[in-house]
Amino acid sequence: MTAFNGQARDQSQLILALSKGRIFEDTLPLLEEAGIIVTENPETSRKLILATNDPNVRVIIVRATDVPTYVQHGAADFGVAGKDVLLEHGGEGLYQPIDLNIAACRMSVAVKNGFDYATAVRQGARLRVATKFVQTAREHFAAKGVHVDLIKLYGSMELAPLVGLSDAIVDVVSTGNTLRANDLVEVEEIMQISSRLIVNQAALKLKRERLQPILAAFERASAMKK
Ligand code: ADP
Ligand code: PRP
Ligand code: MG
Repeated sequence: MTAFNGQARDQSQLILALSKGRIFEDTLPLLEEAGIIVTENPETSRKLILATNDPNVRVIIVRATDVPTYVQHGAADFGVAGKDVLLEHGGEGLYQPIDLNIAACRMSVAVKNGFDYATAVRQGARLRVATKFVQTAREHFAAKGVHVDLIKLYGSMELAPLVGLSDAIVDVVSTGNTLRANDLVEVEEIMQISSRLIVNQAALKLKRERLQPILAAFERASAMKK
């Protein structure tokens, strides 16, 4: 009997996991520093495995929250993921060598304009908090001694206080435009967020020679952004 051994992928290839949109766009210049040019565009192609000018390097396109999972299991050798996503994932099996200083934003608590968050917290009210980031939110409110009922959402968090689903949200904020457009106000910053390079721990050992020049180039290019 031949059992599937989980080694189905071609290990001579280096596979980089990226999500479409800002992470893909902001990683392209870092790849260029390493001499790698992605020759297909995920915005116009439906392909999920993209070729580069180096036949031994490919880029896979996955959801932002799935990047750590692909890298943890070795289906990708390395990837780029936000600190927000890494905190929720837990970081198991991942080496996180470089803060790339891309996709910068902050994780914050926001409420509907007019909701007196400070008083609610001071009076020990139980708050309903809607978020995609339940681990981070749980730790934040536990550290403050605030009792919360967490409501897990997968997007459009800004809507929740407007329709009475929650009193507050925990979400990422950059310009603040989305909060303003929905009559919400930021009441607490939890942490600064940026995206990190993550590397599969086994790949780091077994493919060190090929990964090292790419990691060094990423480090150079991201240091220039500081
Ligand atoms: P998703 O489909 O999961 O929303 P995004 O491409 O929007 O994927 O987000 C990827 C990462 O970029 C997030 O994990 C976060 O670290 C960061 N990010 C999210 N929103 C913003 C923003 N408005 N500005 C800058 N960085 C952001
Ligand atoms: C993200 C995030 C906020 C918004 C914050 O959404 O979920 O809604 O950016 O950025 P701002 O402060 O500059 O408005 P994104 O643009 O990623 O859309 P999404 O719903 O597809 O994740
Ligand atoms: Mg988003």
